[in-house]
Amino acid sequence: MAAPMIKMLNVTKVFENGVVALDDVSVEIGKGELAFLTGPSGAGKSTFLKLITVEEKPTDGLVEVAGHDVGALRRRDIPYLRRRIGVVFQDFRLLSERTVLENVMLPLTILGLTPSEQRRRALQVLTVVGLAQRKDAKPLELSGGEQQRVAIARAIALDPAILLADEPTGNLDPDITWHVMKLFRVINARGTAVIIATHDYDVVKRMDARIIKILDGKVHRETAE
Ligand SMILES: Nc1ncnc2c1ncn2[C@@H]1O[C@H](COP(=O)(O)OP(=O)(O)OP(=O)(O)O)[C@@H](O)[C@H]1O
Ligand SMILES: [Mg+2]
Repeated sequence: MAAPMIKMLNVTKVFENGVVALDDVSVEIGKGELAFLTGPSGAGKSTFLKLITVEEKPTDGLVEVAGHDVGALRRRDIPYLRRRIGVVFQDFRLLSERTVLENVMLPLTILGLTPSEQRRRALQVLTVVGLAQRKDAKPLELSGGEQQRVAIARAIALDPAILLADEPTGNLDPDITWHVMKLFRVINARGTAVIIATHDYDVVKRMDARIIKILDGKVHRETAE
């Protein structure tokens, strides 16, 4: 079997205040898989995602991302790993002074591509999310759902191996939520592993995807029910 894109083996995360956010978690997520991370507030979902982006390191156990043992990663190698991971948040985190196109170009600018190449790739991913025609708008001229689609375009601009979404539809209406979820499916079909943390269990049930349910820092169960 091919190596998993994400592997956690007996992972425990204890914060300095003594809170056990994750407790002996073992999970593998394959290349090109789509999985939901569910569980109540405080269950450990965001902590799970932060271990993947190396914002947090495990207290105990092994975390491997794209074949790299993150515990053994040198500080200067972390940015290279992060380039392979797109992240989307509940509050979009777009720059309000920049246009839609400029927001999506940002990760490409950091990569040092020529301006015309940045533009070309940004327009390409804006087309994927259906917003190329709004490229010159400012984020606050868009609806919440549209802003989230811009954030998703920015997250996939570098064609990441992994897309992480932390409560991405928490600020959206049910109809828009559904639209955004279908968009994650499209991105997943392009070959990106997608992990979506949400406590919106109704949405998850309708999606017919893998569900990893976390309760008190433990993987409670892994089924569609
Ligand atoms: N930096 C931190 N320092 C101390 N405790 C933390 C820290 N981050 C998270 N925690 C605690 O770890 C536990 C898990 O938090 P986490 O944010 O992973 O939960 P969550 O499932 O994402 O919750 P929510 O649905 O509310 O976003 C909680 O008890 C939280 O208070
Ligand atoms: Mg959270």
